[in-house]
Amino acid sequence: MPIPDSIDPDRIPRHVAIIMDGNGRWAKQQGKPRLYGHGVGVVSVQEIVECATEWGVEVLTLYAFSTENWKRPVDEVGGLMGLLKNYLLKELAKMVKNSIRLTCIGDIAKLPGDVRQVLEDTMRETAANSRLTLNLALSYGGRAELIQAIRKIAEDVSKGVLDVSAIDERLIDSHLYTAELPDPDLLIRTGGEARLSNFLLWQASYAEIYFTDTMWPDFREQAFASAIDEFQGRERRFGKTSAQVEGG
Ligand code: IPE
Ligand code: IPE
Ligand code: MG
Repeated sequence: MPIPDSIDPDRIPRHVAIIMDGNGRWAKQQGKPRLYGHGVGVVSVQEIVECATEWGVEVLTLYAFSTENWKRPVDEVGGLMGLLKNYLLKELAKMVKNSIRLTCIGDIAKLPGDVRQVLEDTMRETAANSRLTLNLALSYGGRAELIQAIRKIAEDVSKGVLDVSAIDERLIDSHLYTAELPDPDLLIRTGGEARLSNFLLWQASYAEIYFTDTMWPDFREQAFASAIDEFQGRERRFGKTSAQVEGG
């Protein structure tokens, strides 16, 4: 998957985060069960990971399962967990070969033991890889992430090891699951909805957001290239004026 001509290789977003939505509706359109959509969604994951690796994205965060998704029917939750486990087992060799490092964010303790085991093994075996960081958001919720950070910070204050005046953006960053990752530059949501659904609430403050009607199982190389193309055409002002940004 070489970089398409439409994309400037020198301005690839460092961190792309994706809300992979629309598997269930896509399956329904085909008259198939929801889990079939999730299965084809895994093929999209494989293709987008490959593009991200070859196009020079540093971090790709994929929202695979939210804290709220635990409320889905047990057979769908079980099916998703099975797909995750198989994906990790199947992709390990490719991750090693292509120097992909697997990390995750979320309340991993809630995952079934066997899935957690495979996840931890994969993270350990890919820890030294340096090309793409593939960061899976699993049992992830932005609010839950902030709650655990606030609790740790409050504990340190109450123990007297942290002064209230030392609480700043960097300190909060360092208590999030994403502590060692840069903030997302481009946040994509497939599936037609225009909401964040509890994803990276703190980190996405200045992300460029791209919503597309394309359902996740249809989101492949072309669609990803279009998202990056649009990203490259936007002016990120970070609160400044256009003239200031252009002046460097
Ligand atoms: C996204 O697709 C995958 C997960 C949330 C796990 P959905 O399953 O939400 O698909 P729709 O939104 O019902 O079509
Ligand atoms: C967001 O999709 C979560 C993931 C993609 C993992 P949902 O389908 O769960 O979001 P809502 O319920 O439509 O907001
Ligand atoms: Mg959905």
